[in-house]
Amino acid sequence: MHFIKVILFVTTFISVTISQAHPAGFNFGWGGHHGGTTRGMSFGLSPQFYQFSCPQANDIVMSVLEKAIAKDIRTAASLLRLHFHDCFVQGCDASILLDDSAAIASEKNGGPNKNSVRGFEVIDKIKSKLEQACPQTVSCADIVALAARGSTVLSGGPNWELPLGRRDSKTASLRGSNKNIPPPNATIEGLLTFFKRQGLDEVDLVALSGAHTIGVAKCATFKQRLYNQNGNNQPDENLDKSFYFDLKTVCPKSGGDNKISPLDFGSPRMFDNTYYKLLLRGKGLLNSDEVLLTGSVKETHELVKKYAQDESLFFEQFALSMIKLGNLRPLTGFNGEVRKNCRLVN
Ligand code: HEM
Repeated sequence: MHFIKVILFVTTFISVTISQAHPAGFNFGWGGHHGGTTRGMSFGLSPQFYQFSCPQANDIVMSVLEKAIAKDIRTAASLLRLHFHDCFVQGCDASILLDDSAAIASEKNGGPNKNSVRGFEVIDKIKSKLEQACPQTVSCADIVALAARGSTVLSGGPNWELPLGRRDSKTASLRGSNKNIPPPNATIEGLLTFFKRQGLDEVDLVALSGAHTIGVAKCATFKQRLYNQNGNNQPDENLDKSFYFDLKTVCPKSGGDNKISPLDFGSPRMFDNTYYKLLLRGKGLLNSDEVLLTGSVKETHELVKKYAQDESLFFEQFALSMIKLGNLRPLTGFNGEVRKNCRLVN
């Protein structure tokens, strides 16, 4: 842990030094996290990316978030999820924000997103304020990453130094959104396959699933567990009995697909480690939550127990895994663009 902090400090120091020498913009990729390479130079992300070009970027993001979350508490959860669904498809490039058009088949119509992913209006609001303050400077992909961090912080979760400098895609992948985002009835082996395809491991899977400490899920996403877990018309035997009866009142066998239930009913608005404590009591909502504990992988099982016992360990790992998530295949340097409107390519 200490070692990682030292590395972070050193790369940050180098990045500051370099970006001061190049205040206009590019930041040379010393961290090297999947950074793009253009004409032999490598570009990476850095927390100081907007230090000179838009120093107030994060303040603007936070002020819009505060108002939006005060109006609708669920906004925090929705924005945190939006970053995940962006990064797992073509990398963290704001591809998920593009609307349908002649050239774009929108990811918003992908199975895991349709009638489910939310928060686009809040991103639009942030973007329009940023365009006023610093025209064509802050990318939509960075806005999504900043909004995910800000939502975590405003919900009581950890803060972290967020590498910036992602650029926006000119394409989207509807196919990728159907193929790369894990489904709620996944097994532990399935979840690990989806995460490893992105370069994320068991620790990232268990820590990032802790995002389900806030927000809700629709009946359709957990119905199978209540009525037909294994094709034998029986409920999931790992479900706590009283929790099972409560869920049946929200989620009937037929109909009610859009009715919602909190992912962490113990403290649905608070970013904390209650999610893991509930898993230990058979009270996780989705199959994908449950199998972190009861699936056949010992490591994820042990991590659930650790995070249930030690909230600061969970917070520390959540921050590290969010940085890893945010570093998935960003467009940098001369690749992509900074969109003027997050819903359209320029
Ligand atoms: C491990 C695999 C995962 C699966 C199978 C999964 C699945 C789901 C499902 C089915 C929902 C409910 C959607 C709906 O009913 O419309 C949901 C909600 C949510 N997910 Fe995940 N998720 C996973 C990982 C993650 C990760 C990595 C994050 C963020 C780091 C995340 C953040 C959220 C949040 C915050 C919500 C609540 C959203 C809201 O209330 O609007 N999830 N997830």
